[in-house]
Amino acid sequence: MKNVCVMGAGTMGNGIAHVFAQNGFSVSLVDVSEEQLKKAISTITKNLDRQAGKGAITAEIKESTLKNIITHASLAKGISSADLVVEAATENIDLKLNIFKQIDEHAPASCILATNTSSISITKIASVTSRPEQVIGMHFMNPVPVMKLVEIINGYATKKEVTNTIVDLSKQLGKVPCVVNDYPGFVANRILMPMINEAVYSLYEGVAGVEEIDTVMKLGMAHPMGPLQLADFIGLDVCLSILNVLYEGFGNPKYAPCPLLANMVTAKKLGVKTGEGFYKYSQGSKDLVVSDRFMK
Ligand code: CAA
Repeated sequence: MKNVCVMGAGTMGNGIAHVFAQNGFSVSLVDVSEEQLKKAISTITKNLDRQAGKGAITAEIKESTLKNIITHASLAKGISSADLVVEAATENIDLKLNIFKQIDEHAPASCILATNTSSISITKIASVTSRPEQVIGMHFMNPVPVMKLVEIINGYATKKEVTNTIVDLSKQLGKVPCVVNDYPGFVANRILMPMINEAVYSLYEGVAGVEEIDTVMKLGMAHPMGPLQLADFIGLDVCLSILNVLYEGFGNPKYAPCPLLANMVTAKKLGVKTGEGFYKYSQGSKDLVVSDRFMK
């Protein structure tokens, strides 16, 4: 396995391209937007500079990583010689099904088709292709260059050899693979999202304020970020959509999203990406400032 195509150049896509390229793979990064592709290369360069500045990588590795990435605005061209495609487009089922139909049409017959979906059924995605046994979930965590886990999700039809290949590949990237099965939320989000939802309920019901909830979880449970800060980091729209997948998938009210979370998404207070969620974010500042809405 040498040629990897990463489909989608947003936060997850650029992180995935970065990690493959840094580990010697030829990466073709595909996005419909030329602007998004330029932004992705600039983000990768900035993150490589950060790693080089801290002595984690050499200047040569930085250069070779950037050389290993080419960008394409055409899906057909970008995947024409891929051994593996990792799809990291927006988390929207219709969009992903449409992309997978196109990937299946243009990718070489032996190519493995992986998706970085955080909650959409792998079996459903596989069902729109002619090769469901070669479709698998490869769920990276944000920020991809830092987080060690790759949650590997077997669809209903995924072949054992395909799983083994993706496990070995994840190890080559310096990651720790964990193989799980295809049920709503897999493992990561089945456990993470109810915790985040419960934190939002605690705020909604007035049990405690934003800072108190996050401090309890940071200092009491040694989490690097409290659940409300983490929700802002992931994106409140993403959290809401994953909770809805759990709620609908299991038909169990315990997964019902907190009305406050739904309200915040409607108000477009989505967290870091819109500049405000439970906290306010200003460019370049690392200070955590609670949003005015939640000030006591
Ligand atoms: N690229 C490369 N390196 C990066 C980076 C990036 N994008 N972001 C951070 N780093 C590096 C920094 O250079 C730094 O390196 P050193 O340890 O060598 O100094 C290290 O990571 C820590 O970064 P910072 O000092 O800037 O900040 P921090 O200590 O506050 O850590 C964090 C930041 C790694 C994001 C940490 O807060 C953290 O681990 N948060 C939780 C992240 C998490 O839970 N992610 C999963 C989200 S869920 C998901 O992704 C999937 C889903 O389906 C929803």
